[in-house]
Amino acid sequence: MGVIGYPVKHSLSPDMHEAAYKALNLNMSYHAFEVHPDQLDAAIQGVRGLGLLGLNVTIPHKIKVMPLLDEIDDLAKEIGAVNTIVHTNGRLKGYNTDGEGYLKSLRPLIGNDDKMRALIIGAGGAARAVAITIAKYGVEEMVIANRTKEKGLDLVESCHKFSPASFMTLNEAESQLSSFQLVINTTSIGMSPNINEMPISLEKLEEDTIVSDLIYTPLKTKFLERAEEKGARILGGLDMFVYQGALAFEHWTGQEAPITEMREAVLRQLKGGR
Ligand code: ATR
Repeated sequence: MGVIGYPVKHSLSPDMHEAAYKALNLNMSYHAFEVHPDQLDAAIQGVRGLGLLGLNVTIPHKIKVMPLLDEIDDLAKEIGAVNTIVHTNGRLKGYNTDGEGYLKSLRPLIGNDDKMRALIIGAGGAARAVAITIAKYGVEEMVIANRTKEKGLDLVESCHKFSPASFMTLNEAESQLSSFQLVINTTSIGMSPNINEMPISLEKLEEDTIVSDLIYTPLKTKFLERAEEKGARILGGLDMFVYQGALAFEHWTGQEAPITEMREAVLRQLKGGR
């Protein structure tokens, strides 16, 4: 097993998956493969040639890998990106577990409440996975706020198939913050080393709103710290990362993933200074 990306050496996936194999005593191993974009085709052929069970796919290959596969799962098609490949008898099928991983991490906070109005900040790759999945499975109404309007409108269009969706500027989102029950930062604003930055001001935030950040370095961004001070319920990005890996593990092995051990392995790496 492995992950392909470029660069990929800081990936936490090998440690996380190796911990899962160890916990369940599986005779499997997981490597980080740095694949130059020019070699993507050859790398995917190599999955068939070497008989790998599958791969995770990360930046910058998540979109370009799609035409190289035999089949794409519907949700991955709707998201427009693949992060997991499953190899069965020479056939490669692509999935996207990022959005479902996010939804799993969110579930303890929302229960089965699907009457939420959600604000998504950002409209890049991570935003697409999260917004389309929660529009499809978890949320009544979506608002996308993004610096670049065209990209925001593209994502609105994709969500619209599943839930009512509209666009706002970042300033409008700030001033209408009290109208949302769920606020999700999908941009890299606030990621280490720029830990003092915030994507929007939280001045108008209401108590009990769920505020979530996909970033997990740091584990608690300034955005989440401020939200917590205002009485919000907060969710960092660590569990999304763990659950996207757990769902990939389940596609490959058919077994339930050992979440606790996977999460601990990631935390050990993060605390080790990565
Ligand atoms: P990812 O795959 O991690 O989502 P991406 O596809 O490059 O990364 O998307 C990054 C998102 O963060 C975009 O929505 C981007 O806004 P633009 O569409 O306007 O580029 C947003 N973003 C990144 N840095 C930003 C900044 N300093 N201010 C506002 N938005 C920012």
